[in-house]
Amino acid sequence: SSGALWGGRFTDGPSPELAALSRSTHFDWALAPYDIAGSKAHAKALAAAGYLSGDELERMLAGLDVLLDGVEAGTIRPLESDEDVHFALERELIAVVGPELGGRLRAGRSRNDQIATLIRLYLLDRAAAIEHHVVQLLDAIASQVDAHGTAAMPGRTHLQHAQPVLLGHHLLAHAWPLVRDLERLHDWRRRASASPYGAGALAGGTLGLDPELVARELGLGAPTENSIDATASRDVVAEFAYIAAQIGVDLSRFAEDIILWATREFGFVRLHDGYSTGSSIMPQKKNPDIAELARGKAGRLIGNVTGLLATLKGLPLAYNRDLQEDKEPVFDSITTLEVLLPAFTGMVATLTFDTERMAELAPQGFSLATDVADWLVRQRVPFREAHEISGALVRFCEEHGLELHEPTDEQYAAISPHLTGHVRSVLTVEGSIASRSGVGGTAPERVREQLAQLTERVRHL
Ligand code: ARG
Repeated sequence: SSGALWGGRFTDGPSPELAALSRSTHFDWALAPYDIAGSKAHAKALAAAGYLSGDELERMLAGLDVLLDGVEAGTIRPLESDEDVHFALERELIAVVGPELGGRLRAGRSRNDQIATLIRLYLLDRAAAIEHHVVQLLDAIASQVDAHGTAAMPGRTHLQHAQPVLLGHHLLAHAWPLVRDLERLHDWRRRASASPYGAGALAGGTLGLDPELVARELGLGAPTENSIDATASRDVVAEFAYIAAQIGVDLSRFAEDIILWATREFGFVRLHDGYSTGSSIMPQKKNPDIAELARGKAGRLIGNVTGLLATLKGLPLAYNRDLQEDKEPVFDSITTLEVLLPAFTGMVATLTFDTERMAELAPQGFSLATDVADWLVRQRVPFREAHEISGALVRFCEEHGLELHEPTDEQYAAISPHLTGHVRSVLTVEGSIASRSGVGGTAPERVREQLAQLTERVRHL
C-alpha cells in the first residue's frame, strides 16, 4: 500500500512531481480549524447513526480537540508527504487516537463534500471581518460628512464643472455603494450557508447519516438539495470574490477622487503624514500611496474573480480537481481587503479639506447656468427656450470676462426680454444648492436626511 488515502488500489506512491503539483497544504492549511469542526460534527452524525459508541465518540472528540490545540499552537503542521489539509489531519488523528478509531471517521463522507463545506465556513467567518472593516470606513465617511456637512464644492460630470454640490453629498455618494456591498454580503450569506456535508463524493450517502445534524453543529442552514451540485459548484465562492472585487472598485473610485483632490491644481485635501508617503529624492513630495494602492489592488481583486470564473467555465459535473484552484484567488481577495480597508479608513478619517478653496471654485465654469434655465422655467418660459437663453448668457459672459450675475439689467435684457435682474437671486452657490431639494438632492436638509438614512440602513444589517 502507498500510504496515501487511496492506498489499497495502488502499489506505488505518488511520484515526487505529482506530489509537488498536487500539494495544497501551503494554502488550504488555513482551513484546518474548519476541517476539525467538520470532523466533530461528522463524528456526532456517525454516533447518532450507531457507527460510533458513546465512548468512541468521546475519544474521537477529545482527539480532535488535541488536533485543534496543536493546529492553533503551531505544533501540528502538514508534512511534505501530505497532499492536502484533510490528509494531514487524518494522519494526525490516527497518531492521537490510533488507527482503529481514527480509521472510522472517514465513513460516509468524501473530501468532496468536506471541502465544499469548509470553504463556506471559512468565507462566512472572513466575510464578517470584512463587513466590520467596511462599517468602520462608513463611520469615517460619516464623521467627515458631519464635520463638513455644509461646505460647497464643484460637482462634476465628464470631470467638467457641472453644478455646485455639498461636500457631504459627494462623500455620501462614495458611501452608498459600500452600503450596497454590505447588503450584498448579507444576501450572499443565505446561499453560502447551505450545507454540502452528506453529499459524499457526488451521489449522496448510504449510511443514513443526518445532514441536518451536521449542518446545525456547523452553524449552517439547510443541507444542499442536490449532491452533484453540492460537490461541483463554486458559484458561492465566485460570488464572494465578485463582492470583494466590487468593494475594490468602489474604493478605487473614491481613491481616484482623493488622488485628484490632493494635486496642487485641485488643492481640495491634505493627507495626514501618517497616511501618505514621501519621495526618496524629492524632499517636497507627499504622495497619496494608499489611494493609489487601492486603485491598483482593485485590478488584482478583479483578476481573482475573473480567474476563478475561467476555472469554473466548462468544468464537467461533478467534482474535478480543477476545483482546488478556487481557494488561492479568494484567499488573496480576503487578505487584500483586510490590509487595504483599515489603511483606507485611516486615510479618509484624517483627510483635511480646504473647504474655502472648494467653495471658491464651486461657482466657476458657469456652474450656475442650469439655475438660470430653471429660474426662466419658473417664469413659464419653455425649457427649450430657457436653455437657449441661458446658453447665450454664458457665451456673453465668457466673451466679456464676467460671471453670470455680473451683466447689467440692460445687458440681460439684450440677451432676452425674459432675463431680468431678478435672476441674480438664484445666482449664488448657497441658493443653487438649497434649491436642489428634490429626493436625493444636494440641499442641506436632504443631505442630513440622507446621512440618517444611511446610518439606519447599516444598523439594520
Ligand atoms: N484538495 C481538494 C480541493 O481542494 C480536496 C478534495 C479532493 N478530492 C479529490 N477527490 N481529489 O478541492
